[in-house]
Amino acid sequence: MMHLHGGLPAGGAQTVHCRAGPGAHCSPRPVQLGSTAPFCTSCKDLKRAVMAHAVDQTINPAVAALKPSKTMALTDLALSMKEQGADVMDNGLDYAVDEVLVSNGAKQSIWQALLATCSPGDEVIIPAPYWVSYPEMATMAGAKPVIIPTTPQEGFLMSAEKLRAAMTPRSRLLILCTPSNPTGSVYPRELLEALAEVVRDHPRLLVLSDEIYEYITYAPAQHHSFGALPGMWERTLTVNGFSKAYAMTGWRLGYLAGPRHFVKAASTIQSQSTSGASSIAQHAALAALNLGPHGGAPVAGMVEAFRERKDMIVAKLRTIPGVNLAEPEGAFYVLPEMSAFFGPGAEAVGWGPVPDSDAFCRYLIEKANVAVVPGEAFGAETCIRISYAASLETLTTAMDRIVAALAPGAYRLRTGA
Ligand SMILES: Cc1ncc(COP(=O)(O)O)c(C=O)c1O
Repeated sequence: MMHLHGGLPAGGAQTVHCRAGPGAHCSPRPVQLGSTAPFCTSCKDLKRAVMAHAVDQTINPAVAALKPSKTMALTDLALSMKEQGADVMDNGLDYAVDEVLVSNGAKQSIWQALLATCSPGDEVIIPAPYWVSYPEMATMAGAKPVIIPTTPQEGFLMSAEKLRAAMTPRSRLLILCTPSNPTGSVYPRELLEALAEVVRDHPRLLVLSDEIYEYITYAPAQHHSFGALPGMWERTLTVNGFSKAYAMTGWRLGYLAGPRHFVKAASTIQSQSTSGASSIAQHAALAALNLGPHGGAPVAGMVEAFRERKDMIVAKLRTIPGVNLAEPEGAFYVLPEMSAFFGPGAEAVGWGPVPDSDAFCRYLIEKANVAVVPGEAFGAETCIRISYAASLETLTTAMDRIVAALAPGAYRLRTGA
């Protein structure tokens, strides 16, 4: 969750209050940027303005040609959310009202961010395994998805070296998802800092940080917002929403936060497509926000239930020889690597050969009555995804069936595995 500050009248100038003392005047002189003292509002704005200058401001020409709507009702609604107590600050992110755009789900936020920032031929860097929609959305925006594979041995985390190797003059957007769907991995701060080093060296590159699973993080793992790293606010479009933290998927509410220039472009797209998010859903979201920091006790209880399920699934998977696992630290998915279970020589006794992950998933449905998703959809051909958004009882039954279906007497692993 991020901090909203300073309700700005649309297009109006912000009233500046310097914290140096009553009546102190904070003049926008560049020399103040070197100060190690906390920035007052105007200094921060000035710094952002200077940094924004260094960022490639290109907007997709098709979007730049759209006429903006005159009714920016969302700004008012965002302001009302702030007035009703939504101004919590707990991840180091700080945005003005017109630097946030509320949409019909984070999916729409991501789509609009891609459409706003990517021009035809631009490259969108996506670490794999990825959430299914990223490459498709990049392609629909006319950009080229550049997929960076990661392995369970790497904790499904993309290294700075891999990012650096993928950079080209067309690199426009890096999509980070932490905690991740489908891997459950959580980027540690040191790794995000290393990635930020690469971003710093490539002025054209922006980062879309999808943090929709922010609250579902299992201690000692900690969520860190990319935009809160030094110098990254200007380079980052942060996406979040209510579907996961508050289990409000059907309410369709998400948001994009970032530098005004890009958020304005996204809002231009929205004004010509869905106008705004449902006001009913926004009132429901207010109730969710009023549960307290990080969703208060109800969300803490939900996260604890997820952790219990995750621990059970991981423990059972670890009893199956051949399963390769990176233990998830967040979200509600486990993505075991199962390549030992299909390919030449792999066979389910009494069922038949298992040439690939599709056949493997079919076997699990037919033999164990358990439905899991083949990893192919997430750019992880040798994995399966298990979602634990179900009761502990149901999941325990399902896992027991999987363990039995893959027991050494019931299943022969791939030759050489
Ligand atoms: C990683 C990720 N980002 C975004 C979304 C979209 O969420 P919303 O329901 O807010 O559109 C999802 C939904 O599954 C997701 O897993």
